[in-house]
Amino acid sequence: MIKKTTVNTIQNMKNNGEKIAVLTAYDYSTAKYLDEAGVDIILVGDSLANVALGYNSTQSVGMNEMTIFTGAVARGVNRALVVGDMPFMSYNTSIEQAMTNIGEMVKAGANAVKIEGCNDYLIKLIRHCTQSGIPVLGHLGYTPQSSNQIGGHTIQGKTVDAVNKILDEAKKLEEAGVFAIVLELVPEESAKYITENISVPTIGIGAGRFCSGHVMVSDDMLGKFSDYQPTFVRKYVNLKSIILDSAKQFCQDIKDEKYPSEKEVFNLKEEEKEKLLG
Ligand code: KIV
Repeated sequence: MIKKTTVNTIQNMKNNGEKIAVLTAYDYSTAKYLDEAGVDIILVGDSLANVALGYNSTQSVGMNEMTIFTGAVARGVNRALVVGDMPFMSYNTSIEQAMTNIGEMVKAGANAVKIEGCNDYLIKLIRHCTQSGIPVLGHLGYTPQSSNQIGGHTIQGKTVDAVNKILDEAKKLEEAGVFAIVLELVPEESAKYITENISVPTIGIGAGRFCSGHVMVSDDMLGKFSDYQPTFVRKYVNLKSIILDSAKQFCQDIKDEKYPSEKEVFNLKEEEKEKLLG
């Protein structure tokens, strides 16, 4: 019997000093293998926009796309906690609009949702979610959906004042009921300080070694996405070259009439063959 990972499992991991492994996934098969490999949280990130749909920005992906891909991932997962990333402007207009969209994400199969940022409105929204039984993963530091406001892909929390601002936001999110907080693009010392001063786990991405866990975009980790690569990415395999080599070999086999071979075809029964061909 497979034991499903819950938000309590994730909190216990922080309490017991066990690191939390988080990867993104966007399709059924990848999600299935990541789950089988023991990944604790599978995030259907809005990075879907860049790595799977080819948009320039995460701001381009919408609710329809996110729920389709979240459904595919959820159908492949038995054990890991599935988190659906709420896309740009799907939760910012009103609590009512946000709760409708968040409900769609949960109906698609997400066990929890991720919401970027911290302000009075978002705190109210997070309270609504947790009171409705929907766990929320917070996201602080660099928040890509606000990249135009922030001024690009830049490291956050570089001064004592800036770290304390993020810590203050983290405490507010914790108070509102988030089960964990992603810290993106933050110096290691800042992420450590924040992690040590809140109770819920932190999940780092470009945030050094001392977060409670770490997240990576699976297409980066697998060497599949090659348009750009952040410095903190560790590539475990070069899927790009494996795909390229396999596709080249397939093309060559077709040209050389090596595919299909005798073993890869269906045949008529002898008597039918006789009747047909004489
Ligand atoms: O969309 C995403 O993949 C993310 C992670 C990088 C945290 O938000």
